[in-house]
Amino acid sequence: MMRIDGKALAETLRQTLAVRSQGFTVRAGRPAGLAVVLVGDDPASQVYTRNKEKAAQAASMHSVLHRLPVDATQVDVLTLVGALAADSAIDGILVQLPLPQHLDERAILDAVPPEKDVDGFHPINIGKLSLGLPSLVPCTPQGCVHLLRSVGCDIAGKHAVVIGRSNIVGKPMAQLLLAAHATVTIAHSRTANLPDIVRTADIVVAAVGRAEFVRGDWLKPGAVVLDVGINRVQTTDGKSRLVGDVHYDSAMQVASAITPVPGGVGPMTIACLLENTLIAAERRAGHA
Ligand code: GUN
Repeated sequence: MMRIDGKALAETLRQTLAVRSQGFTVRAGRPAGLAVVLVGDDPASQVYTRNKEKAAQAASMHSVLHRLPVDATQVDVLTLVGALAADSAIDGILVQLPLPQHLDERAILDAVPPEKDVDGFHPINIGKLSLGLPSLVPCTPQGCVHLLRSVGCDIAGKHAVVIGRSNIVGKPMAQLLLAAHATVTIAHSRTANLPDIVRTADIVVAAVGRAEFVRGDWLKPGAVVLDVGINRVQTTDGKSRLVGDVHYDSAMQVASAITPVPGGVGPMTIACLLENTLIAAERRAGHA
């Protein structure tokens, strides 16, 4: 069994991107620019957005984190997104999810111009992905594809089972695997006989948001397992720890390769965000 080191792969990718970013700055006369929008004070989102801002700066990009209060109105958010859309120093705009309940998430994501949509959440980019056209691709699924390639997994012809059908992970993951010529099954909370379906998978992507849900005895021997889950669970000594959607200790006995949590898929998401920001910057500057 191989433990897939997402942290190390992300570090390598970030170094490559930093070099490409410096090249962009020389050619364009300005750095690539990323704007991150955080509404409210969700603790996990604060950590994620800080990490995104710092990662962009470490890759020699221009990066700004815009924080709005939890009671910001729809107009407040749309005004900020509109200003960033018009700002020529900004190539990528990311609105951190989840947004507070009172806001219309779809309307806000639709206000990000598709060419600056580094999350790949705009309907135009989702549509282009499903048509197989060049687009900005959601970061977590893109990171999963990088991880599969890094372990030499030949996706073509394999049966991939994606557990979870979210717009952020499950659906775009299925599209990317399909584009790479896998046979793809999308399973979800209402799927009947899930263990039996997972047992037929060469590639398993777990993105259901349920702690240690997928067990080792659900896996075909030699399967490659990507665990997108990040679940905080209480331990007996009153502390908490992070676990994935896969029961690691049993799955590692059966899988040929598996991502740990933390240190697997997570670090790749940020690296892919930097990659998308550079792609957006190069396209906007007419370099690509
Ligand atoms: N919240 C959880 N994952 C993501 C992501 O990939 N992008 C954004 N914007 N918010 C998230």
